[in-house]
Amino acid sequence: MEYTTLGRTGLRVSVAGLGCGGSSRLGMGYGSSTSEAARIVRHSLDLGVNFIDTAMIYGTEEAVGEALRGVPRDQVVVSTKSQIVIDKRRLDPAEVVTNLEASLRRLRLEYVDVFHLHGVRPDHYGHAVAVRETLVRAKDAGKVRHIGITETGPFDHGHQMLRQALADGGFEVLMTAFHMLNQNTRALVLERARDSGVGTLIMFAVRRIFSDPEMLRQTIRQLAAQGKVAPELARTDDPLGFVVHEGGASSVIDAAYRFVRHEPGVDVVLFGTGKPEHVASNVASILKPPLPDADRARIVALFGHLEEGVGLTLPEKREDDDRGQHSGARA
Ligand SMILES: NC(=O)c1ccc[n+]([C@@H]2O[C@H](COP(=O)([O-])OP(=O)(O)OC[C@H]3O[C@@H](n4cnc5c(N)ncnc54)[C@H](OP(=O)(O)O)[C@@H]3O)[C@@H](O)[C@H]2O)c1
Repeated sequence: MEYTTLGRTGLRVSVAGLGCGGSSRLGMGYGSSTSEAARIVRHSLDLGVNFIDTAMIYGTEEAVGEALRGVPRDQVVVSTKSQIVIDKRRLDPAEVVTNLEASLRRLRLEYVDVFHLHGVRPDHYGHAVAVRETLVRAKDAGKVRHIGITETGPFDHGHQMLRQALADGGFEVLMTAFHMLNQNTRALVLERARDSGVGTLIMFAVRRIFSDPEMLRQTIRQLAAQGKVAPELARTDDPLGFVVHEGGASSVIDAAYRFVRHEPGVDVVLFGTGKPEHVASNVASILKPPLPDADRARIVALFGHLEEGVGLTLPEKREDDDRGQHSGARA
């Protein structure tokens, strides 16, 4: 495993981080038990992953807690989150602290390394700042080491909220959506984060867009029909097939993780899965060298201009990482 420093937090973190949300939720999204989910966490730790990202609404904090039993606390960096708005109701800052304490109980931990405000929409940023002021007291009490903020991919394609957060400078870590067809993160978030020492966590590197070949084909065809990508991409069943060759990527998923991993300003690439074989292959991809220059340049030339948040939603609208901001969330 390779380790890096998460911005100015000083935390030493693995460049591959286990995401316990997304559609997989460690496999609990498709029926795995808490113990099976805990085994995914253990398997990741065995491969040297020390960064684990969960959240109150994922329903995976207990599994993380089970997996971490007996693991020395300084061997793992745990990140969790609370929403600040549920069903259009702004949570009182004290409620967010109550959520933090409930997360600590589920995780069986005395403190979390990073506590994020989850999926904050641009119009809720002012409230996030108010909540942060209260969380600083939780930090002083030793329950949180660093305060972070995550954006809502589907509802903030221009990263407006994180741009405000970066200008304000009050958050030490951020989580942002970045992938081969959603590259505006580079100029709008990553460059500024690097300049200001804010730690960065990448979400959505693969999601459905690159793990479901039919979804990729349909998406590219739609974009071509709208004149937004080159028409020849719509004439093939494998529009990203050019990345797979000897000396290049072994699959589109391999390319997707490697594309984001080597972008300047990226600290941790999160991968979400419930399958042990995917844990191993994703960690291997994240540790491989950058894609060949020509392939990377072609991906940037073909898709670098897209601004519409391609692939940030799930077709069945189960945006379980973001829905808490918009509808009743699973507590
Ligand atoms: N607003 C927020 O705060 C927010 C929003 C989104 C995500 N996140 C965080 O970011 C993490 C990562 O996002 P993500 O879960 O969307 O992860 P991802 O790694 O981009 O994509 C995961 C999806 O790809 C599949 N997959 C993963 N590896 C695969 C492989 N090797 N081969 C084939 N399919 C593969 C998974 O299914 P399988 O289970 O079948 O492998 C799952 O459907 C989340 O877990 C969460 O911690 C936060």
